[in-house]
Amino acid sequence: MNKNIILIGFMGVGKGSVAREVVKQSGMVAIDTDDIIESMENRTIKKIFATEGEAYFRNLEKNIASWLASSVSNTLISTGGGFFKVDALNKIGTVVLLNSNFDSIYRRIKEHPNAKKKLKKRPLLQDLDKAEALFMERLPQYEKLADVVIDVTNRSVEEIAKELLKKCH
Ligand code: S3P
Repeated sequence: MNKNIILIGFMGVGKGSVAREVVKQSGMVAIDTDDIIESMENRTIKKIFATEGEAYFRNLEKNIASWLASSVSNTLISTGGGFFKVDALNKIGTVVLLNSNFDSIYRRIKEHPNAKKKLKKRPLLQDLDKAEALFMERLPQYEKLADVVIDVTNRSVEEIAKELLKKCH
């Protein structure tokens, strides 16, 4: 009944950019779980991690997941890279994994005009080796949860959004 599309995938893979393009192509309404958390808490994710720790942040994600499952429909939901760990993700909607390899994801961030800001705001991207280990640990978990997998390596957002809409509608 809820007919949501929920975008999952590693930090920097392009969930936000793809969500904006899907909105452009389809007119769907979109929300972002990190944005909801920052407005609810009136502080940045970086600040939340630094002051309260990661467990506190994960708990906020869980609360948002229950709200999404019970009260949101016909919406494109982009999530933070660790949001997939909430209970019953597939109760929220069709789960779409945006996937690539770690090197391409990291290069995408580094080559962005706002690279410094993009790296700085993500506490779990500070140590490159740890981030890569996290990617390797999460990849099979992402794949297990996904109803649809889209490879985004070296592809334009237009093309990715088109594929997503074709596979989800
Ligand atoms: C996280 C990803 C971030 C943000 C937080 C934790 C993660 O979102 O939710 O820093 O655990 O992968 P993005 O995937 O948008 O960077």
